[in-house]
Amino acid sequence: MRVSVRAASKISQSLKTSFISRNSAKTKQTSNFNSSYSRNFTSSTMRSDPFKPAQRVAGQKQDVWSIVNEAAAASPVQPIVNMGQGFFGYNPPQFVIDAAKQALDKVDCNQYSPTKGRPRLKKALAKAYSPHFNREINPETEVTITTGANEGMLSAFMAFVEEGDEVIVFEPFFDQYISNIEMAGGKVIYIPMHPPPGSDTKTSSAAGWKINMEAFEAALNSKTRMIVLNSPHNPIGKVFSKEELQAIGDLCVKHNIIILSDEVYDKLYYVPFTRVANLSPEIGKLTLTVGSGGKNFYCTGWRVGWLIGPGNLIKYVSAAHTRICYSSVSPLQEATAIGFEQADEHNFWEESKKEMKGKMGKFNKIWDELGLPYSDPEGGYFVLVNMAKVSLPEDYHFPPHVAERPRDFKLAWFLIMEVGVAAIPPTEFFTPDNAHIVEDWLRFAVCKNDDVLETAQERLRGLKKYIK
Ligand SMILES: Cc1ncc(COP(=O)(O)O)c(C=O)c1O
Repeated sequence: MRVSVRAASKISQSLKTSFISRNSAKTKQTSNFNSSYSRNFTSSTMRSDPFKPAQRVAGQKQDVWSIVNEAAAASPVQPIVNMGQGFFGYNPPQFVIDAAKQALDKVDCNQYSPTKGRPRLKKALAKAYSPHFNREINPETEVTITTGANEGMLSAFMAFVEEGDEVIVFEPFFDQYISNIEMAGGKVIYIPMHPPPGSDTKTSSAAGWKINMEAFEAALNSKTRMIVLNSPHNPIGKVFSKEELQAIGDLCVKHNIIILSDEVYDKLYYVPFTRVANLSPEIGKLTLTVGSGGKNFYCTGWRVGWLIGPGNLIKYVSAAHTRICYSSVSPLQEATAIGFEQADEHNFWEESKKEMKGKMGKFNKIWDELGLPYSDPEGGYFVLVNMAKVSLPEDYHFPPHVAERPRDFKLAWFLIMEVGVAAIPPTEFFTPDNAHIVEDWLRFAVCKNDDVLETAQERLRGLKKYIK
């Protein structure tokens, strides 16, 4: 099969390269000092700037997180209500915290875990997810543990993407996808999603954001290696319907393209949730599903994630993960395993969903009160709000790094400075050509304590005088 042969050749190539470089390093050590001296100091290829960064990390503009966090620190309204980044304002459930504390007392939990992950966690995930995938998942061959979903996705790109291969990403995208794909040498092909007509004047369901399937199909060619799907979606809050996923999956089968399905918000859906891997055996064979303990148990700092998929794909993801970080944090893998083992007896998944949906519903009342339309989420914990009606004072001073960005950056800056609430400008999740689609929107994360959400609502009432 095309998948395994290409991945195998890449990984055996990288093993060969490291073998050759190890051997040549040995040769260098034994070579004559004078000749290596003259080679190093007279070569025309001598580096003019030893500190010049590699292309893959050079030239990155200031990212949205640091702009928003810096602005938040400089705001005259303190403490700021930070609804920007998607970290939780509260702790994991007590049974998961207890599991983490107890794990620290166990000798083996403080040592290296196997590179593919702790057997207990792989088993707990296979048991928990088998019913969702309508098949028995093999914990040994079909699950691999990673350092958060993010490193799991990097491992997947490293496993299957060769220099110049194309990877399709839908806009808006979770920003880490892009650098992860490019780091592996891939070329990102962007397909924008569009909000439903009229979403700038009245609230509509996040379901209304659509992929132009003709544009998607037209983008597929012999270089297309993977696509990245995200459902429930960050930042839109859309849960892709079965029909949408079927149409995407069938095209991937037709063109033999790997689907990387980012399902980190898989426990937070408020409408029926379909897993693309389940749609047919053919789609299942080329789908890697990504999960996150951080998102599931409110501990984004733990950095425990995983991929589930067919063994002939998972083994190469594990091989790449071994090269990137060898293995992931042991005691927190153990605690995540116990979290999955005990979640049902604590009715945790139901409670978690109910709680988040409740926060979402309560918080969004402020937009109804202010008359600002929003995209009503079907899942996850982000809400996109349309701020076209907010009129920014003409003479308002924005610093140059904000002034040069689209209007949503100015809206975010203004809200931080004048109202004391931080949100994320979503044009950051689009390419410049398509940024206009969301330049009037802002993204708010509701995974915060209720009193924080109430303070945010109170402060957001301060926007009234700027609404046309
Ligand atoms: C869509 C999406 N995928 C992946 C991640 C990263 O998950 P993790 O923290 O497990 O790396 C995030 C985090 O915000 C996300 O929003």
